[in-house]
Amino acid sequence: MASLYDSADIYDLIENQERYDAYKEHWKSVLENKNIKSMLDVSIGTGSVTLPITELGVSLSGSDLSETMLDRCRKKASDRDMSVELKNSDFRDLKCWHGNKYDMVASTGNSLAYVSNEDVLKTLEQMDALVSDKGYLYFDLRNWDKILKERNRFLLYNPFFVDDTRVNLVQV
Ligand SMILES: C[S@@+](CC[C@H](N)C(=O)[O-])C[C@H]1O[C@@H](n2cnc3c(N)ncnc32)[C@H](O)[C@@H]1O
Repeated sequence: MASLYDSADIYDLIENQERYDAYKEHWKSVLENKNIKSMLDVSIGTGSVTLPITELGVSLSGSDLSETMLDRCRKKASDRDMSVELKNSDFRDLKCWHGNKYDMVASTGNSLAYVSNEDVLKTLEQMDALVSDKGYLYFDLRNWDKILKERNRFLLYNPFFVDDTRVNLVQV
């Protein structure tokens, strides 16, 4: 089965300026009273979560397993005149970033859920090794306890229209 991440344009249908601004506000509150000048997102995807942080004076780097997602991130950054260093890498092996340290090392978009519990531990160690002294690790993850409790298996998005075609995104 094809992966959604091979169709980064479809993945990004849920993105809009309002969402972008909301993330920017979120990052403002995360940065408050912290000395964070550099960030590495090890599952940056198309950058929909982390690109806004570059407008707050943070230098952003990112990696991802999907070259298609990275290509789209590259284009979005260039359209907004942002400079972001991007690399193709599995977050279980982050040696492509060795030699660098970051004030915040993140995995955004519930991405750690893609690997086994054992590999999550390995990933955390890999990420931790890249954090600068007094730096931060950042994760955004689904509330799995809530999901298991509510057992809501399908998340329906409003339809999107691409030219004459209606696209219905359903998260299972
Ligand atoms: C739900 S998307 C989140 C993307 C982005 N952070 C966002 O929030 O829009 C999950 C991302 O994790 C990436 N991913 C999955 N497994 C990975 C791995 N082992 N190493 C690095 N990236 C991975 C996928 O390619 C995809 O871009």
